[in-house]
Amino acid sequence: MSTSDALDPKEIVRAGYDLISRIYRGDEEGEECAHYHAWLDELEPLLAPGAPVLDLGCGCGVPVARRLARRHPLTGVDISPVQIERARQNVPTAHFLCADMATLDLAPQSLAAVVSFYTIIHLPLDEQPALLRNIGRWLQPGGYLMATVGHSAWTGQEDGWLGGGNAMYWSHAGEDTYLAWLAAAGLTVLWTRFVPEGVAGHTLILAQKVESTAEAQRTQR
Ligand SMILES: C[S@@+](CC[C@H](N)C(=O)[O-])C[C@H]1O[C@@H](n2cnc3c(N)ncnc32)[C@H](O)[C@@H]1O
Repeated sequence: MSTSDALDPKEIVRAGYDLISRIYRGDEEGEECAHYHAWLDELEPLLAPGAPVLDLGCGCGVPVARRLARRHPLTGVDISPVQIERARQNVPTAHFLCADMATLDLAPQSLAAVVSFYTIIHLPLDEQPALLRNIGRWLQPGGYLMATVGHSAWTGQEDGWLGGGNAMYWSHAGEDTYLAWLAAAGLTVLWTRFVPEGVAGHTLILAQKVESTAEAQRTQR
């Protein structure tokens, strides 16, 4: 048993990112950021300039919040005070909240898009379906979710992750489970893509909030 086994998973994650914030990502973008730009190149053309966007698990704001904030009112949420402090420095035009995304309470239909990269998998599995349902409520009809989720089911933790001296905790469902949870949240999956990482990987999804027939007819008029 590792020293962190008895701790609350949220506390492991918060303390872990407080400690390894700069090891995970510098203030300047490196080559490791190229894939985020490729993903946002697919999302941004779907969004009107000025449409409000939420970044769940925004980290230090580099590169995703920084890029999206150039065209959109951007709210970033992260559980780690160190990440949020850096994000405020890195992206002064955006609005940042230090909070657990599982307890966020936002206005229904207030967002054109939610992005969440490598973050939903840090939430204990039993909290993930409710978060996806909340995202479904926060999105405007026709709004988008772009997120990385689990590819294969695995829950566990690793001590000394990234050499930072702290543990890290993850909880992944398998891809099919995420597809079912997204459907239950009123989100239609437009596509999924496998994103390899080492010997495993994640699933990148683009999903859209279902527009009711009445709403779709109103939009066409
Ligand atoms: C792997 S990092 C990814 C950061 C950024 N999305 C990126 O891809 O560069 C995961 C981030 O999610 C945050 N996080 C984890 N659990 C969270 C929670 N329950 N609520 C809000 N943020 C959380 C962590 O603090 C960390 O900054």
